[in-house]
Amino acid sequence: MEVSGWKGIINQYRSYLDFPENGTVVTLNEGNTPLIFAPKLSKLKNANVFLKYEGLNPTGSFKDRGMTMAISKAKSSGVEAVVCASTGNTSASAAAYATRADMSCVVLIPDGYIALGKLAQALIHGATVIQIQGNFDEALEIVRTLPAHAPVEIVNSVNPSRIEGQKTGAFEIVDVLGDSPDYHFIPVGNAGNITAYWKGYLQFKSLDKITKLPKMMGFQAAGAAPIVDGHPIDNPDTVATAIRIGNPASWYGATAAASESGGMIGKVTDENILEAYKFLAKEESVFCEPASAASVAGLFVSEVAKDSVVVCVLTGHGLKDPDIAISQISVPVRIEPTLNEVLRVMNVNN
Ligand code: F0G
Repeated sequence: MEVSGWKGIINQYRSYLDFPENGTVVTLNEGNTPLIFAPKLSKLKNANVFLKYEGLNPTGSFKDRGMTMAISKAKSSGVEAVVCASTGNTSASAAAYATRADMSCVVLIPDGYIALGKLAQALIHGATVIQIQGNFDEALEIVRTLPAHAPVEIVNSVNPSRIEGQKTGAFEIVDVLGDSPDYHFIPVGNAGNITAYWKGYLQFKSLDKITKLPKMMGFQAAGAAPIVDGHPIDNPDTVATAIRIGNPASWYGATAAASESGGMIGKVTDENILEAYKFLAKEESVFCEPASAASVAGLFVSEVAKDSVVVCVLTGHGLKDPDIAISQISVPVRIEPTLNEVLRVMNVNN
């Protein structure tokens, strides 16, 4: 039955995507996420700051943009099983889209370093979840070799369809702003997303749909900042488990985006990240996961030109990682169930 409304990023941007004409589209209506004006950040930075809230995708992260492409292409070419390594969000997205396509899905995750919500998603969508006693980089190394031994397709961002789908985030930003922002702040983990956004902006520039290109400002967590430090990190460590990555697959894509755009790849401490995370929730009413807040943490430590237009991508939803949220706030008070007790503690004066 034909219905109106948004039908996912492939249907919306098909003419700009490398997608076969008769390909099967596997979609959960991903994309079309809001670009939310951030008044308090704007005031603080003397700029016009917007938040691209990717947590509102179907599985709660930007991965769905790439996954609709990767799974659609895989389905169109008769693939029956997909595999990925993940810090959590890719596994949640792969599990959901694979199920939608009646394919099986295997995910390798670092044991003990994946947020609770993401683990729940991968499991409830029916993926085979394998926890490895190692980190993301070790998991991805194994995944890369799997197609030589089993009939599976990789849906990590080493699969070019993932980058191709994720570039639509840039298209949506341009569709709302009417042009590129001046600065594009984004967390960097495996570095696929910064590569994808830059690809999207470049494509729209080559089609004269925008007049300028943004400075790409990528931020890694200080304990997992191989690009900034200039070498792979054996034991990456950060509270932002989504970007706990020591050897990014799209390393070159990230450095190219930063240098070609006149931007940078920087690093922010866990303290910076949690400060931005709480600021976003308390001051802007937007709840993202810790890794997502790396973009805003990056904005906090950067200079931007007065009155410029700034976009910070918030890559995943805050509900993904309830443990970190609870650890950052004081626990609610417990009282007897009486009016007087409520009045005593509610802290609202008349
Ligand atoms: N933010 C979130 C919430 C993520 O989950 C990731 C990556 C990133 C930022 C970094 O994006 O890797 O394209 O540079 N998560 C991957 C995963 C690694 O397995 O879910 P990137």
